[in-house]
Amino acid sequence: MLYKNFIRPLLFKFDPEQVHRATLRMMTLPGMARCLPLLFHTKTTCKPRTLFGLTFKNPIGLAAGFDKEGAHIDALAGLGFGFVEIGTVTPLRQPGNPRPRLFRLPADRAILNRMGFNNNGAPAVVDNLRKRRTPVIVGGNIGKNKITPNEKAADDYRKGFVQLAPYVDYFVINVSSPNTPNLRDLQDTGYLSEIIDTVQNENQRLPRAKPLLVKIAPDLSDRQIEAIVDLAMKKALDGLVATNTTISRSALNTDRAILEQLGSGGISGAPLRKRSTEVIRLIKSRGTLPVIGVGGIMNAEDALEKIEAGADLIQIYSGLIYNGPMFVKRLLR
Ligand code: FNR
Repeated sequence: MLYKNFIRPLLFKFDPEQVHRATLRMMTLPGMARCLPLLFHTKTTCKPRTLFGLTFKNPIGLAAGFDKEGAHIDALAGLGFGFVEIGTVTPLRQPGNPRPRLFRLPADRAILNRMGFNNNGAPAVVDNLRKRRTPVIVGGNIGKNKITPNEKAADDYRKGFVQLAPYVDYFVINVSSPNTPNLRDLQDTGYLSEIIDTVQNENQRLPRAKPLLVKIAPDLSDRQIEAIVDLAMKKALDGLVATNTTISRSALNTDRAILEQLGSGGISGAPLRKRSTEVIRLIKSRGTLPVIGVGGIMNAEDALEKIEAGADLIQIYSGLIYNGPMFVKRLLR
């Protein structure tokens, strides 16, 4: 109530990217990491669950893109998350797209972003990860640099994997962001097969292999999704993350002229819910591949919908922006 009636209207008056930065900075003030768990600790009937060899204290995770560089894991864990996925991390530092590149669509309870994998690069992320203290499960979401052609993409994923491997618990190969030109072509089974093989080759050299998942777009056709599921099972992948943001602008309440003015990017939040649930159902109809369900979880019913569709774990991003920091606790209850 406090957040929706007072804090959110105030925050929504300012530039979304600046608010995001300021919030993260505030969360990492001295003492916050100790304070937050006290504020947001919740008794839950959720039993820990074990998936791909990892035991999650609860099934609610923070989706990739919120803490792109793994600099705020301790504070974010304090909100009650069972796991935090950092990234997308690219091998080299890159600035991302020109600003403004992040917009709220309040009429749709949605966000439009074309960030474009802005991050300080894998070595800087490793420095951050070395400093984290909370033993929450951390996923490393890896991508390719904008300047790397798709033909050489596999090596970017390999580099990201090798550098982050000592510091994260599972990996997500992100081939589904709409904001890096042609990235989503890597969902083609030819490219994807090569990326998975390249990363698994490094993975097998580790004393203990890391669970490896692929994150897919909601805009793929059902047939394309089925092809990826079959490939994932053939390659003994540990699961899929479904889904990333959508490029679809259908069925939005936001004025057409405003949408055109805002320009390109991926939409997250409420308008994504239905399709991402369909994708989860489709994946589960083809086998037993574990799924992290993400897309449009704005309340507890939406979370249950994902779980009933077959999601083994769920993640949130836009729901946190619209509902505030108590959202994880509310979902857990
Ligand atoms: C994202 N998302 C995202 N995903 C990813 O794999 N790598 C990334 O770098 C980002 N970056 C990013 C930035 C912003 C501002 C948003 C809103 C989203 C997508 C995110 O992880 C998730 O898949 C979607 O947002 C759908 O979930 P919600 O927001 O509907 O709960």
